[in-house]
Amino acid sequence: MDYETPQFFRVMQYANRADRDVVDMVSGSPDWEPPSALREGLSDYAEADPDEFQYPPSVGLTELREEIANRRGLDREQIVITNGAGEANHLAMAGGLELFPGEEILLTDPVYPYYAGRANFINAEPRFAPVGPDGRLDPETVRERAGPETAVIVINSPNNPLGVTYGEETIAELVAIAEAVEAVLVSDEVYDHFDYSGRFSSALSVDSTHRVVTNSFSKSMAITGFRVGYAVFPSESELLENARTRHMLTTVTGSRPAQAAVLRALKKTDPSYYEEVRAQLQARIDRFTDALAAAGAEYVEPEGAFYVMARFPEFPGTFENVERLIDEAGVAGMPGEAFGHSYEEWIRFALVSPRVETAADRLAGYFDGTTEGNQT
Ligand SMILES: Cc1ncc(COP(=O)(O)O)c(C=O)c1O
Repeated sequence: MDYETPQFFRVMQYANRADRDVVDMVSGSPDWEPPSALREGLSDYAEADPDEFQYPPSVGLTELREEIANRRGLDREQIVITNGAGEANHLAMAGGLELFPGEEILLTDPVYPYYAGRANFINAEPRFAPVGPDGRLDPETVRERAGPETAVIVINSPNNPLGVTYGEETIAELVAIAEAVEAVLVSDEVYDHFDYSGRFSSALSVDSTHRVVTNSFSKSMAITGFRVGYAVFPSESELLENARTRHMLTTVTGSRPAQAAVLRALKKTDPSYYEEVRAQLQARIDRFTDALAAAGAEYVEPEGAFYVMARFPEFPGTFENVERLIDEAGVAGMPGEAFGHSYEEWIRFALVSPRVETAADRLAGYFDGTTEGNQT
């Protein structure tokens, strides 16, 4: 698999060129409203004094770091505000690779493709731990594949593409493995607000000098274009110091208006905002998975995030078949082969379209399923 060329664009371009109406379920850009306080914060910012249009501290607005630290029981100094979780993951992975003796980055299969692309980009050797048949990552599989050659282990919970969510025990075991092999566990938690199972456990719950947590407001506040994320490093660690320097040398700092708007939204948004979004997504998941069952497809019931992986009978998730689905059914998803080997027969659908229902009906009609769906 070529992880360096973004495959999302290939599918999106194909869908855009199609000769018919297509429901776009390719990438994970939310279609719902951000919190109203975010819009207010942004609009007020336009009236700010010119000095507030200048560089914020490189590590991010102090008040924003303070707010995150208070909410998460951290020391403000551990936090670096980044350009989305993308940069946070980059700093954590590159930092771990530099600090620890190994040259490999251990990833899961299926994988969020940007981790694999980034491993190549920073000259690390990617190695993969396949998830089990239920979509879960068994820490034993990670233990078998981790060793002195491992510098970084990257996990993502709630997970893209499978929607599985790791509980407290799994997280504790994974941190312990990173400690045992002299590596860093990078836990990407960008979907933490989209946990339908109640079992999500942040890696922040395990205190260790061998774990970094990355997160962002891209998904939780429906603002993927704002580019505000953060990484939490062990206090006073070399990982933290190196990340601060790299962040400053690469980006100088992050966008100040975006950080100010996020700060306002963090302070003013009622938990009901997140609950309503979750309820809307849960309804979409139910509607979509019912249609998959009607189409005779196998699927992984999402416990978190907003993707559904499905396998249709005799219709492997290749690029060619995804293109066929665009042309013949009017639904665009991502081929399973873009996420590695273990789910290459599957197709991932992002439920970030108001037309999930239309897509569900089209798929059920296209596969004209008479067989019962199997839920993995
Ligand atoms: C697992 C995962 N991590 C990180 C990102 C990127 O997040 P951000 O927009 O904050 O850079 C995504 C986006 O889809 C994602 O799915």
